[in-house]
Amino acid sequence: MTDTITAASAPGTAVADLAIESTGLAKRFGGRPAVAGIDLAVPAGSVYGFLGPNGSGKTTTIRMLVGLIRPSAGGHRLFGQPMPVAAPGVLGRVAALIEGPAFHPYLSGRANLRRLDAADMFADRRTAASRVDAALDRVGLLAAARKPYRAYSLGMRQRLAIAACLRTPRELVVLDEPTNGLDPQGTREIRSLIADLHAGGATVLVSSHLLSEIEQMCSHIGIMSAGRLVAQGPVGQLRAAAGPARVDVDTARPEDAVRVLAACGLTDPAPQPGGARALLGDVDVETIVPALVQAGVPVTGFRVTRPSLEDLFVGLTGEGFDVR
Ligand SMILES: Nc1ncnc2c1ncn2[C@@H]1O[C@H](COP(=O)(O)OP(=O)(O)O)[C@@H](O)[C@H]1O
Ligand SMILES: [Mg+2]
Repeated sequence: MTDTITAASAPGTAVADLAIESTGLAKRFGGRPAVAGIDLAVPAGSVYGFLGPNGSGKTTTIRMLVGLIRPSAGGHRLFGQPMPVAAPGVLGRVAALIEGPAFHPYLSGRANLRRLDAADMFADRRTAASRVDAALDRVGLLAAARKPYRAYSLGMRQRLAIAACLRTPRELVVLDEPTNGLDPQGTREIRSLIADLHAGGATVLVSSHLLSEIEQMCSHIGIMSAGRLVAQGPVGQLRAAAGPARVDVDTARPEDAVRVLAACGLTDPAPQPGGARALLGDVDVETIVPALVQAGVPVTGFRVTRPSLEDLFVGLTGEGFDVR
């Protein structure tokens, strides 16, 4: 669609700086297109929020990225290396949580992780026990390590799945809807886990159908709609693309307020019932109220409204985002 903002086109962003880069990635299921024309650019070291409503194609794209399914068209690189040719070398640098691995209900959380670890050709046998316990500790499951999986709550199961991909340090961590089924506390824990991974130098791709849940922890965002990537780029750039910030002043003297807002450099100032409004532009917010007061305008209320990424999504697709 229109207005695709591409991180790759930002000055100084070379291809080698991208942890993930795809071109024209597409997948059809039985002749029906699920996703098409996906040009993803995930900068190394970023926390990339891969957002879109249910059914928009996030999981399908992620499954192609980590080599679980073959694209019908297009291709991609991980750390600059072509997939799937480079998979044997590259996949040891990648951890992925995709719709949860299969866990055995009668084995404990710890035994499940040890089993997965034993099947991981990239994992070092000698450090298995300590790595598994460190991963359990990291997601707050160490105390429940000996409980059978079937006794775990949904949130604990999700955390065990996350622990499974934290067993060994990875440069790229891909988490498909890691907050699914978690309560607000669990969601906060995932956010802090992602912040830790980021601080440790990892690139994180995290998908969600709940924009508000992950928007705040991402440096970059890609937005999916109906199988297409409709926008991507640094969060600040996307917010700016969502539209200008708007200033509302409540006052009994709207005409005077309009005059002052114009003098401050705000654009499109206009009176409205109970006050005045204008677009902020590059004007420093802090200067506005003092200018109004100095001009003798009695200010009873002042608000700055910045359009959200949700507004951007609605603008790009004509539909709402968080459909609960
Ligand atoms: N294995 C499959 N076979 C047929 N259709 C599929 C399959 N996987 C996904 N789809 C379809 O592809 C579209 C995108 O699904 P998905 O990637 O799961 O979206 P999301 O992860 O954003 O919810 C949906 O229309 C879904 O029904
Ligand atoms: Mg999905």
